[in-house]
Amino acid sequence: MTEHFIGLMSGTSLDGADGVLACIDAHGHIRVKVHAFVAFDMPFKATLMALNQSGPDELHLSALAGNQIARHYGEVVHDLLQQSGLKARDITAIGAHGQTVRHRPLAFDGDAAKQQAAVGYTLQLNNPSLLAELSGIDVVADFRSRDLAAGGQGAPLVPAFHHGVFARPDACVAVLNIGGISNISVLRPGAVVTGWDCGPGNALMDFWCATHTGQPFDRNGGWAATGQVNASLLAALLTEPFLHGAPPKSTGRDLFNPVWLEQHVQSRADLSAIDVQATLTEYTALACASDVKRYASDATSLIVCGGGALNGHLMARLALHLPQLQVLSSETRGLPPLQVEAAAFAWLAFKTMRRETSSLPSVTGARGARVLGAIYPR
Ligand SMILES: Nc1ncnc2c1ncn2[C@@H]1O[C@H](COP(=O)(O)OP(=O)(O)O)[C@@H](O)[C@H]1O
Ligand SMILES: [Mg+2]
Repeated sequence: MTEHFIGLMSGTSLDGADGVLACIDAHGHIRVKVHAFVAFDMPFKATLMALNQSGPDELHLSALAGNQIARHYGEVVHDLLQQSGLKARDITAIGAHGQTVRHRPLAFDGDAAKQQAAVGYTLQLNNPSLLAELSGIDVVADFRSRDLAAGGQGAPLVPAFHHGVFARPDACVAVLNIGGISNISVLRPGAVVTGWDCGPGNALMDFWCATHTGQPFDRNGGWAATGQVNASLLAALLTEPFLHGAPPKSTGRDLFNPVWLEQHVQSRADLSAIDVQATLTEYTALACASDVKRYASDATSLIVCGGGALNGHLMARLALHLPQLQVLSSETRGLPPLQVEAAAFAWLAFKTMRRETSSLPSVTGARGARVLGAIYPR
């Protein structure tokens, strides 16, 4: 039997909320029917950006931002139902990621006893009750907390989905999702799936571009492509310890944020803004490419999804650093880059509604696989 699910994703890029309406059969095979996107306006983006750091009255402001996220999600759901001609009663559930404002898993240092006792936290703003009320559909939310409670990183959660959609029986495939932060899944025939956050995605490039051009992002990487990479800044950025740590690992704006960037840029006042953009794009490409080289050197293809796949200059730099494999957009595998993460959350909701586990301990480092999320009935 085939059921309909909606997946909603608003990632660390803070660009807005992507949603898909998909049908999923009993085996978990998914087919996306329609896609919708609602952009966050600049003031709301600034509010969310501010909530990534401690600040006055943050409990109140977070709760209001959660309500606003739920309203934006409600608009996306409305659009998806209109486009598809389906009604709320036709949808089994919505998987709603929420907006991450803190991600503080405890780093795994190899001490199993300490790991057993320690619990970090992760916080995705949302008001799933309000979304259930607005949509008339069951909502699954807060997918990451259970994995942290089980000693995991709570991220990335998409590798199990990547496996279902992109794995091949005859070849090792790597999947790179370039959202605000980048994450990789490695899909080897006959082996457990591995995956981790490899470092910055669009977050730094978007911040720099918005500050210096007023545009929310560097379309197709056109601005970066006309600048020069600064070797000294690039070398300094590459010393960031997170890049050199071994998986399992995950990160967020807690680390790769404007304050972190300013620390590196302020002592280089002679640098032009365009050269910094070129350097940040190269940095993003190198952070991703070096993880592929270190941990997926047997991959024959790198399937790229997330908005970074639409940055032609970044894709060209990735291909240049990874000449031994094919660098492809997920579009060539039937799922456009901006639909992959939203489709993953539709699939994660499908798993939760069936009380099936969907986390991968081989990815997050948790003690075991868990049924993820909490259900808010319609
Ligand atoms: N045409 C494009 N050219 C360059 N970058 C793009 C383009 N379209 C989207 N992006 C980038 O992708 C980001 C959105 O990607 P997304 O996968 O939604 O990330 P997240 O999951 O973090 O929200 C934008 O902020 C922008 O940086
Ligand atoms: Mg996004």
